[in-house]
Amino acid sequence: MSFGEIGRGIVLSALFSVTTCNVYRVDNSMGPGRRFDGIGGLSGGGATSKLLVNYPEKYRDQILDYLFKPNFAASLQILKVEIGGDGQSTEGTEASHMHNEWDENYQRGYEWWIMTEAKKRNPDILLYGLPWAFPGWIGGGSRDNPYTNVTRTADYVTRWLLGAKKFYNLTIDYVGIWNEKPYDATYIKTLRKNLDTNQLGHVKIVAADGGWEIASHIGADKELDAAIDYIGAHYPGTTTTKAALTTGKQLWSSEDYSTFNDNTGGGCWARILNQNFVNGYMTSTISWNLIASYYDALPFPSCGLMTADSPWSGHYDVASPIWMTAHTTQFTAPGWNYLPHGSGVGKLAHGGSYVSLVSPNQKDLTIILETMSHDHSLCIRPALPAYNVIPQNVSLQLSGDLAKIQQLNVWYSKLAFGKNMTSVLFKKLSPLKVQDGKITLSVGLDEVYTLTSLTLGNKGSYPDPPASKPFPDTYFEDFEGYPLHAEPMDFTQQTGSYEVVSGSHSHGKVLRQVVLQTPVFWCKADEVDKSLNIIGNSKWSDVYVSTDVAIGGINGTTGVYVAARVDQGGCQSWESKGIFFFLFPSDKKFILTNDLARTMPLKEGEATGAVNGWNTLELAVEGNFALGRLNKKALFNVTVPSTPAHGFVAIGTDSYGIADFDNVRIKSSHSQ
Ligand SMILES: *[C@@H]1O[C@H](CO)[C@@H](O)[C@H](O)[C@H]1NC(C)=O
Ligand SMILES: *[C@@H]1O[C@H](CO)[C@@H](O)[C@H](O)[C@H]1NC(C)=O
Ligand SMILES: *[C@@H]1O[C@H](CO)[C@@H](O)[C@H](O)[C@H]1NC(C)=O
Ligand SMILES: *[C@@H]1O[C@H](CO)[C@@H](O)[C@H](O)[C@H]1NC(C)=O
Ligand SMILES: *[C@@H]1O[C@H](CO)[C@@H](O)[C@H](O)[C@H]1NC(C)=O
Ligand SMILES: *[C@@H]1O[C@H](CO)[C@@H](O)[C@H](O)[C@H]1NC(C)=O
Repeated sequence: MSFGEIGRGIVLSALFSVTTCNVYRVDNSMGPGRRFDGIGGLSGGGATSKLLVNYPEKYRDQILDYLFKPNFAASLQILKVEIGGDGQSTEGTEASHMHNEWDENYQRGYEWWIMTEAKKRNPDILLYGLPWAFPGWIGGGSRDNPYTNVTRTADYVTRWLLGAKKFYNLTIDYVGIWNEKPYDATYIKTLRKNLDTNQLGHVKIVAADGGWEIASHIGADKELDAAIDYIGAHYPGTTTTKAALTTGKQLWSSEDYSTFNDNTGGGCWARILNQNFVNGYMTSTISWNLIASYYDALPFPSCGLMTADSPWSGHYDVASPIWMTAHTTQFTAPGWNYLPHGSGVGKLAHGGSYVSLVSPNQKDLTIILETMSHDHSLCIRPALPAYNVIPQNVSLQLSGDLAKIQQLNVWYSKLAFGKNMTSVLFKKLSPLKVQDGKITLSVGLDEVYTLTSLTLGNKGSYPDPPASKPFPDTYFEDFEGYPLHAEPMDFTQQTGSYEVVSGSHSHGKVLRQVVLQTPVFWCKADEVDKSLNIIGNSKWSDVYVSTDVAIGGINGTTGVYVAARVDQGGCQSWESKGIFFFLFPSDKKFILTNDLARTMPLKEGEATGAVNGWNTLELAVEGNFALGRLNKKALFNVTVPSTPAHGFVAIGTDSYGIADFDNVRIKSSHSQ
């Protein structure tokens, strides 16, 4: 338990017997340093919150409290979201507000919902939107360039910002350019003008959500300089460049972390929250991702501040990064200031770092110390040897107005990496008295301390949620329960975009694939030019799936499919394997393949009984056999390869273009 761990730290300190006690000055007499802009989470880039919406409301509200409620847990200060672009953006596709030039709709996807829920809990949370893919028409014939007509692209993004206000009363504070892709200076200037002429002068531009290269461009172009408010770099490894500092702009790590959220993830997050400022003068750090709410067989499982990927059970995990966030967010606010380097900000002599922040009236002080010796993965290590951490005594000398502070409240964490150790997460310790302007702490390894004049701070909690269970083995969906334009639960679009529409004739509401042309893609998934919508349990091996399906008139797709044992999603969707049963109704043809791209055919034949209008497809895979039926008549019974041995169920289309699905029925009889 916690006190045992503290004791252990002291024992270890004695063993190392470092006799010096380093003194660090915390001083505001020279005035404050850079403004602090907030700690955030990123929903999207893409579809990372997809399964969160499906949770029973009670658990969903608890999860949202852990993320956003002030003085409760992560208490995030910034929420960044994807501006959906109808293309795969890591864990799936997020819907665009304008699938086509003639279309505009603000009822799609779940980012509006999550922003509204965040604002409900914290009206001061800052909002930031950024595109990954763009719908195909934005490219004007190009699949990889959204800047062929910068007026059109600026207008498209501006409409999203206006829609946020008009339909949800959401004021978006920041907008980005194009995630981790080339920027275009003319586009940035055009966007700035377009925002200003649309009463969106308050929206600040963050550029360019990639590397630091844009900094030298800003230095050489006055108009670009004026258009950009913040420089946002991704995974900066806690460092920046001279050119970036020379611009005088606030610097952000506008996407960072991306690490499995066990204790190594927590350690990485705690380290970069401090060191992005200590080493790189960055005043905001945003986690990819906010919450890991996507099937765990998709890429980067549990790389969020916490995990909630099992809505059918209600289970979720509040992981250590939530509490590492709390160490900063519960005791600061955007608009506070860091103290300058050397006056409350720096490296600790024996490993680790410290930052100090003061409130706008200079009366309140928060100091955060970290001594992480462990972390790994995408949370890129700093160039300097920061991992050589040993126990140490740290003295802080408060000077300037801060010398008046009599006592500091203390919040403590220690991340356990040893087998028999238990972590201490965000625990309130006894306050420390300031004596002669000085306080001294004995600091061990992998610890975080917050020392603050604020009396705030709270480790919020709810009773444990239910245990995790696999996705149910029987499933039926007729889409009647959804509002129009909703993206149905559990169906996780990987390419293409699907929404509930009123179907024709007797079918009531149906699920429609609506993308008509290849998006301006963000990753290779969309190059397959087929839509893919997965559902269920990636461990399913023997499974039956049926769906009614109709290809929509003039803008219809060429063919449709149902599939089982689908082994890939995300940016690798293009090479998805499985058992795919394609139907081409107008050619009266079917094709059974071992892959989505149709490079591995297993059988082809005449689709006897296919009609124009609604057809019923049934596919059953059992051991080495796949059986197919069309409109209740047997079509094939063939031997199939043993790989992949298991995977998701999927529905989809052979090309972009409209297709409607209804009455999806799944029954799995064996999982691996
Ligand atoms: C910290 O200070 C205490 C008390 O002076 C001392 O016993 C201990 O050895 C010191 N620890 C380290 C790591 O220097
Ligand atoms: C660019 O897009 C705008 C707005 O959509 C349109 O009015 C204009 O004609 C387009 N320009 C060209 C050169 O196509
Ligand atoms: C819209 O939000 C603002 C705060 O941003 C609030 O003051 C106002 O009352 C809201 N308007 C409506 C109609 O809810
Ligand atoms: C961990 O605990 C187990 C059981 O209490 C004990 O047998 C083992 O020796 C401990 N291992 C370490 C490294 O302390
Ligand atoms: C089909 O595409 C045309 C443009 O090619 C468009 O005008 C029409 O609205 C589209 N219809 C549907 C249902 O998407
Ligand atoms: C499928 O074919 C296999 C081998 O020919 C046979 O054993 C099995 O009974 C068939 N299944 C059905 C449902 O016809």
